[in-house]
Amino acid sequence: MQHRPVVLITGASSGIGKSTAHYLADRGYRVYGTTRKSPNNTGGEAVTLLQLDVRDEDSVRSAVRELLGLEGRIDILINNAGVGITGPLEETPHQACLDALETNFHGPLRVIRHVLPVMRQQQSGFIVNITSIAGFMGLPYRGIYSAGKSALGIATEAYRMEVRGFGIKMCTLAPGDYATNIASGRFHSPLLEDSPYRQSYGNSLKLMDDHVDAGNDPEEVGRKVYRILQKKHPRVHYTVGSPMQRLSLTLKRMLPDKIFERLLLKHYKL
Ligand SMILES: NC(=O)c1ccc[n+]([C@@H]2O[C@H](COP(=O)([O-])OP(=O)(O)OC[C@H]3O[C@@H](n4cnc5c(N)ncnc54)[C@H](OP(=O)(O)O)[C@@H]3O)[C@@H](O)[C@H]2O)c1
Repeated sequence: MQHRPVVLITGASSGIGKSTAHYLADRGYRVYGTTRKSPNNTGGEAVTLLQLDVRDEDSVRSAVRELLGLEGRIDILINNAGVGITGPLEETPHQACLDALETNFHGPLRVIRHVLPVMRQQQSGFIVNITSIAGFMGLPYRGIYSAGKSALGIATEAYRMEVRGFGIKMCTLAPGDYATNIASGRFHSPLLEDSPYRQSYGNSLKLMDDHVDAGNDPEEVGRKVYRILQKKHPRVHYTVGSPMQRLSLTLKRMLPDKIFERLLLKHYKL
C-alpha cells in the first residue's frame, strides 16, 4: 500500500497555514503544522501541531526530530510561517528589519536545511515556499516585507537547481491579499514625533489594511498548494490571488519601470 504523504507546514495556527493544513488533511495527506506556542494535541485532530519557531535553530531541529520519530519521513515541506512589517524605510528600526528578515527569509532557509538531509535520503521531496505578490515589487511602506519575500523567491530559484539531482522539487507560491491575522500581528514601525511621512504612511496603511480585510478566503491558497503538489515538473513560481493582483505582476513585467511606478503612486495616493 502506498503511504500517505507526510507534510510539514510551518505557521499552521492561523490564516493561510491553517487553511492549507486542513485542506491537505481532508485530501488524505498526513499533516503536521507548527506553532510557536505550546501545542494542545488531543490525539484525534486532522492536523497535529508541533512547536517550532523558525528563528530558533534548536526549536527547528527538535520539531523535525519529533516528526521523524512519529512518521520516519517528510515528503512535503510548506514554508508558510511569516510576519508583516510596515513603516517608512528611513524610520524603521534596524532591529525590527533584522527580526522580520529572520522570520521571512532566514527562517524558511533554516527549516529547509533541517529537512533536506531527510528528503535527500528518501531521494524525493517537495518544498513550497510561500512568498508574496508583494515580493515581486517594492511596495511603499512595505519595503522590508517586499525585500524579504523577494529574497526568498530568488533563493528558491538557486536552491531548486542545486537539489533537483536529488529528486527534490522546490517552488514558490506568492499569494495576493487574503483575510488572515497578518495585519493584526504585523510590526508597525513607530513614527518619529516630527515624521515627514505621517500623512502618506497613514493613507497607505489604511489601504493595506482594507486590502487584507477584503482579501479572499485563505482556503483558496490551500487549493492552489494542493494543485501544485500534483505537478510532476512544477514551475519555479506560482501565484494565487484576485485577477487584479495577478494583473499587477503582468504589468510589472511588461511596463517600463517608471510607468509601473506611476501606477503604484496613483494606487497608494502618494
Ligand atoms: N494574508 C495575506 O494577505 C498574505 C499575502 C501574501 C503572503 N502571505 C504570507 O502567507 C504566510 C501566512 O500568513 P497569514 O496571512 O496566514 O498570517 P497569520 O494568520 O498571521 O499566520 C502566520 C503564521 O505564522 C506563524 N509564525 C509567525 N512567526 C513565526 C515564527 N517566528 N516561527 C514559526 N511560526 C511563526 C504563526 O504561528 P504562531 O503565532 O502560532 O507561532 C501563524 O501560524 C506568511 O508567510 C505571509 O507572509 C500572506
